[in-house]
Amino acid sequence: MTNGRAIIANSFGTPEVLELVELHVPEPGPGEVTILVHAAGVNPADIKKLAGQFGSPSLPMRFGSEVAGVVQAVGPDAVGPMGPIEVGHSVIAYPVSGGYADEITVKASSVLPMPEGLSWPEAANLLATGVTAWHLLEATGVGEGDRVLIHGASGGVGYTAAQLALLRGATVVGTASAANQTLLTDAGARAVVYGDGLADRVRAELPDGVDVALDTVGTDEALDVSVDLVSDRSRIATIAGFARGAELGVKMLGGGPGADPGRDIRTAARPELIALADEGKIDIVIARTFPLEAASEALELVRSGHPGGQVALRPNDH
Ligand SMILES: NC(=O)c1ccc[n+]([C@@H]2O[C@H](COP(=O)([O-])OP(=O)(O)OC[C@H]3O[C@@H](n4cnc5c(N)ncnc54)[C@H](OP(=O)(O)O)[C@@H]3O)[C@@H](O)[C@H]2O)c1
Repeated sequence: MTNGRAIIANSFGTPEVLELVELHVPEPGPGEVTILVHAAGVNPADIKKLAGQFGSPSLPMRFGSEVAGVVQAVGPDAVGPMGPIEVGHSVIAYPVSGGYADEITVKASSVLPMPEGLSWPEAANLLATGVTAWHLLEATGVGEGDRVLIHGASGGVGYTAAQLALLRGATVVGTASAANQTLLTDAGARAVVYGDGLADRVRAELPDGVDVALDTVGTDEALDVSVDLVSDRSRIATIAGFARGAELGVKMLGGGPGADPGRDIRTAARPELIALADEGKIDIVIARTFPLEAASEALELVRSGHPGGQVALRPNDH
């Protein structure tokens, strides 16, 4: 039995309500694994949970759906989706609950091998965004020769979606702020800034039309431009604009009201993403890392909407 530090919230609110506490880390039971957390991914979903947008989980709440770290202990019959798990293995665990912690005991079904060549913060940011990007592409059938518009292509989900669409042989136009245009062009996509006149800028890049639009931003602009440019609404999907998305009859994916959770697609995507990362085919941009005790600062950066890459906590920074 060990104790470890963890981040909790005793009320809904904004990041300043987060507290660092000492908690008991349970021994792994049957089908469970204990992981020493080297990095925990910080995602917009954590802010939405803290704000009470995901219903009313019991208090205190824990945060962090994805970690990368080293296996400390293995319970009976603990086999992961990609094979046996042993003490000392470097792993990614997703989905989990309470990853903002020194140590966490999780179901082995969430534990996958960490790809070669990724840092701890990169590994802790591969799957939550990756499976969502994968779901966006699967739901809209992105394939060879498709012309794909991605709103928020400089973000965690959007940048992965852009890379996956390019790997499938699509032509990609991504929206981003002026500061993030070269991120997209360096990856092989075309880039346009969001804001007034967006539809015309996309038309100038894709004069023969747009086949698919993927919205990771959720603004009316992103959704309205999507239906303006793509005639087939079954090839428009949003993960963030559920009210406008429902009005427009586009596909809504993930955990929002009326959205398709795509559990099987997302579960099956994990080994595919691990394999692509192993082959060096997926680039994860880390904007900044923070010590565990600075979780509220990390969440504030993500809450800004312009983190400039993905964000990780480093509970055991070595
Ligand atoms: N439904 C699901 O299953 C699911 C899963 C994961 C995430 N999400 C949601 O998807 C959204 C994106 O997540 P993420 O992790 O990719 O976030 P992120 O890394 O913070 O990226 C945000 C993106 O939005 C862009 N952006 C910010 N303000 C904008 C505006 N006014 N107009 C157009 N683009 C703007 C940013 O561009 P610049 O930085 O270049 O300005 C950046 O590309 C969040 O709302 C998240 O909660 C949903």
